[in-house]
Amino acid sequence: MNTSRDNFGSRFGVLVALTGSAVGLGNLWRFPYLMGENGGAAFIIIYLIFVFVLCLPIMYSEFVLGRRSQTNVFGAFKVLAPGSKWSIVGLFGVLASISILAFYCVVGGWSIEYLVKALCFDFTRQGTVNYETMFSDFVSSPVKPVVYHVIFLVMTAAICLGGVKKGIEKFAKIMMPLLFVMVIIIAIRSLTLEGASAGISYMFKPDFSKINSGTLLAALGQAFFSLSLGCGTIMTYGSYVSKDENIMKCSVITSFSDTLFAIIAGCAIMPAVFAFGISPSEGPGLVFITLPRIFAQLPLGGIIAILFFLTLLLAAVTSSISLLEVVVTYLLEEFKIKRKTAVFLTFFLILILGTLCSLSQGVLSDIKLFGMTFFDFFDYVSSNILMPVGGLLIVLFVGWRLGKANLFDELTNSGKLKVPQWLLEITFFIIRFLAPVTIAVIMIF
Ligand code: PFF
Repeated sequence: MNTSRDNFGSRFGVLVALTGSAVGLGNLWRFPYLMGENGGAAFIIIYLIFVFVLCLPIMYSEFVLGRRSQTNVFGAFKVLAPGSKWSIVGLFGVLASISILAFYCVVGGWSIEYLVKALCFDFTRQGTVNYETMFSDFVSSPVKPVVYHVIFLVMTAAICLGGVKKGIEKFAKIMMPLLFVMVIIIAIRSLTLEGASAGISYMFKPDFSKINSGTLLAALGQAFFSLSLGCGTIMTYGSYVSKDENIMKCSVITSFSDTLFAIIAGCAIMPAVFAFGISPSEGPGLVFITLPRIFAQLPLGGIIAILFFLTLLLAAVTSSISLLEVVVTYLLEEFKIKRKTAVFLTFFLILILGTLCSLSQGVLSDIKLFGMTFFDFFDYVSSNILMPVGGLLIVLFVGWRLGKANLFDELTNSGKLKVPQWLLEITFFIIRFLAPVTIAVIMIF
């Protein structure tokens, strides 16, 4: 083990940091609206299959690369495939992390504004608010969302500045249990509303006629995003994990916790949406437009609004630190600079890109990259190109270059862990054939 590197201090630390990366805006914002748009329970079933059959082996692969190489996403391929061109895959990870951060920090900033509104009881006080205008006026204004985005970025950078054990792990240890408690409280409030049962049956009674190729695409994209795959975060965190840790167990617990959180978030939102007679397929505005409208009419809505936006904000921070850490570790190790310098450089880069994304909702909305605003461009490029291509190249590397023997050696801690042979064989089959083919087919769509 490379003892000069910072590392996670305990198994609990590893698990909360990984779950912290996975649980984020993807669970509270994207999952509920995608589920709403794609037929509820039918979407959940497809999603579960993708997570546990396809994505779990991809997570093992990233974990294995990180822990075996004990270095950053770029360096990992240099260590594991010296003299080859594979390290380009690492650059994909760095680019994907940068481009997600660019828009993720903007949405993180929106959650700060909405938390402030909730704290001022803005949703519940005025009877005649138009929540749609409230949202569009805010995001398109040139100053406030930019300032909030900077505050969000400062929070993220401050935690990364503390390092792996004293920054990331410490923060996640406090936040993750808190996040679960808060989302459960909100779900209980929502589930006990009159009329909540329609939302519950929407989520748990599948209507398979709703499934089409669009559902499959949405579910796979969401599974990748939610589990933080394809952009090197699992590799980077994996490189901080001790050689005695059980990679398969950690990955299963992380995937399970992330999925559980998404379903509880669904239970916090859908029953309330149905109880208030709102359509479940409201789309991306669900969290910032529909929910405030519900909070306004909900008994104890003021308090629930505060809890909700606090949860959204903290969940977003535990994810954004994992993205920033990918870039920071890369700069730190490849250019031999101090952590402080690496954090500052990344901070300024995201500050610029994020500001462009934020302004593209208003004053810069006419500037288009390939026909998209800055915000949509970074979202599109990361979710539809960099993450799936990154994921594809990672499984190809593990399946065809690293090879079976090395994979099994890492997954069993050189034979110390007893993992059934059939399980290892199936995992290898998925990594070598099923995962690359599925990702490629879906991308060609
Ligand atoms: N998994 C995070 C979420 O669901 O919000 C987003 C994310 C974090 C994506 C880290 C990718 C990543 F590397």
